[in-house]
Amino acid sequence: MSYFPGSPRVARRISIVTGHDLDSQCLSLSEKSYCFLYVSNSYRRQSGTAHNSLDHCAQGGQFRTPTDTPLASMKHYKIPNTDLAVSRIAYGCANLLGWDAKSYAADALAKASRSIHCAYDSGITLFDQADTYGFGRSERALGEILRQSPGLRNKVVLQTKSGMDFSTPDGPYQLQFNCSYQHLINSVEGSLSRLGTDRLDVLLLHWSDALVEPEEVAKAFDELKRSGKVRYFGVSNHTPGQIDLLKKFLDQPIVINQVRLSLGICGLILEGFSNTWFMNTDLTDHCHWPGVTGTLDYCRTHDIQIQAYSPLRGGLLNPPTEASPQIRELSQGLADIAQKENTKPATLALAWLLRHPANIVPVVSSTNIERLRENCAADHLTVSRDDWYTLLRLAALIKRDNPAT
Ligand SMILES: NC(=O)c1ccc[n+]([C@@H]2O[C@H](COP(=O)([O-])OP(=O)(O)OC[C@H]3O[C@@H](n4cnc5c(N)ncnc54)[C@H](OP(=O)(O)O)[C@@H]3O)[C@@H](O)[C@H]2O)c1
Repeated sequence: MSYFPGSPRVARRISIVTGHDLDSQCLSLSEKSYCFLYVSNSYRRQSGTAHNSLDHCAQGGQFRTPTDTPLASMKHYKIPNTDLAVSRIAYGCANLLGWDAKSYAADALAKASRSIHCAYDSGITLFDQADTYGFGRSERALGEILRQSPGLRNKVVLQTKSGMDFSTPDGPYQLQFNCSYQHLINSVEGSLSRLGTDRLDVLLLHWSDALVEPEEVAKAFDELKRSGKVRYFGVSNHTPGQIDLLKKFLDQPIVINQVRLSLGICGLILEGFSNTWFMNTDLTDHCHWPGVTGTLDYCRTHDIQIQAYSPLRGGLLNPPTEASPQIRELSQGLADIAQKENTKPATLALAWLLRHPANIVPVVSSTNIERLRENCAADHLTVSRDDWYTLLRLAALIKRDNPAT
């Protein structure tokens, strides 16, 4: 019997649009209902009376079973040397619940839940975490959200990080790095438990540890891979030399390097221009960690996906009052081109990163639904060569007292 006994025609139509046989046993009742909602919405969108799930989220809607594919489509990249295909924009969870040491309230979890679902419905399938975000609260919240959303875990790629060591929220803030065997093993156990999953799709070493023993990292990665607790491994904030050192001992490939990169802090892209075309450019003004060379080219050569964190920071969107004239000029230039293209500055800044041929994946984070939409719109914007270089020239003029700001 049809799930929609009164409307077999609708059921057939849904099967065509979603690719699901609604009467098959593999779809739960709520999944079938959601397919129905999906098709109804697509009809209403065509007729201009859309009430899509983003609007639903913005109005405070709660979680429901996700569709097999997000409502909005986004281009995907295959992560080299894996069987993972991920959206070309990722959602970063560092500020999902803030960093307040107090436990989170239900309304904070509801807001976080709306952000995660809206990211998914906008086409994002890659979610970036770290054991340290919100002192563990961010992973715990995402775990709770996944539990409330049947099926969502298997539709997204979960990436988290280890290797940064914070003191407890109650104690003094003592940052250090720790990529020892025991720390990595304990950290992954903690992440799995907070996220409520039996496996991490990707584990990144958060930062290089000056005391790293690559043999210990190799032992930890072997064990995590063998037990099925981690599928793939990568790094963050690592130089080519640091990656080479690890590779000498690892059996698993390094598939990702997540680095700080934005239009405002674009030293990794400016490399090679510094002494030629952009005569005044001092790379140390643009690098998060000065002295690094060749990171992008190294990653491209070795099939390592580059993820760009903090892709909108650096005073690009709302320069603070103390911002230098060059930062203001970049921000104005960005706003002018955005107006010409009938888009938002944030969308353009992200599309600028996407235009780079290295297939850079910006990791965006906003718990504001409108901003999240603006950010995902970058997937549909192609920046012309002229505009791209106009922005790079403006960015190259920036001098920063502290390249990490
Ligand atoms: N590997 C590492 O060492 C490392 C370090 C830092 C971050 N990360 C990862 O990268 C993610 C993103 O980092 P981030 O938060 O620094 O990056 P971001 O997304 O570039 O910056 C977020 C800031 O920009 C604002 N914003 C976002 N979209 C906007 C828009 N469309 N218009 C105006 N303002 C907008 C946000 O405010 P609202 O939230 O109020 O919208 C927030 O203040 C993190 O969540 C984390 O996953 C990794």
